[in-house]
Amino acid sequence: MSLRVAEAVAGQLRAKPDSCLGLPTGRTPLGCYQVLAQWSRLGSLDWRSATCFALDEYINVADEMSFAHYLETNIFRYTNLPADRQFTPLAVDDYESLIRRAGGLDLILVGIGHNGHIAFNEPGTPKLSWTHCTWLTESTRQANAALFGSEDRVPTMAVTMGVQTILTARRVLLIASGQQKHGILQRALADGVNSDVPASFLQEHPHLEVFTDFDFDRNSR
Ligand code: GLP
Repeated sequence: MSLRVAEAVAGQLRAKPDSCLGLPTGRTPLGCYQVLAQWSRLGSLDWRSATCFALDEYINVADEMSFAHYLETNIFRYTNLPADRQFTPLAVDDYESLIRRAGGLDLILVGIGHNGHIAFNEPGTPKLSWTHCTWLTESTRQANAALFGSEDRVPTMAVTMGVQTILTARRVLLIASGQQKHGILQRALADGVNSDVPASFLQEHPHLEVFTDFDFDRNSR
């Protein structure tokens, strides 16, 4: 799965070197970032004209636990992506207009949370949502407790691209790893569109590509 996702991202960069990419964090994209880092280190991937936007960022988090640090250490440091074209929603007043001024998102990579969130758009987030601050649900904080050592150390708030921000991307790559994500992916893509499962809004995107490392049929019920 990671190789296929990396090939899709690399293909986008090669087809359009000034691509704007939306990049997630979490466990799922790590394998893809390792492949992209390797290709970049070998000089076979050129990021110098690209622009990258983090999907989300914690509020009040230690630098080493931030998503900016995650992206720097897992991918950016291995690329020639200019530092002034790496953006995070925490450090920008108007993320939407920054994305628009950059030409809009050519490709966004999104994982899916156990509760069906995309980026940090938690259940109940309306489709017409832009970059905003949000409280993190218990489910999300529990899912990240291991990374912080304990649940009470996980931040309670984050800034995230909204559902609409994600839907403006010209291509959406949804990635899910581990059989434990099969159920929520099924709910997101095979049941009706509803804000209880924000990932379900992706059903309506004209250029959605789904990558899993388990058997999954979007049309099966
Ligand atoms: C966090 C991130 C999401 C990510 C999700 C799933 O909530 N904000 O962008 O998709 O976790 O993470 P994982 O890939 O570790 O399951």
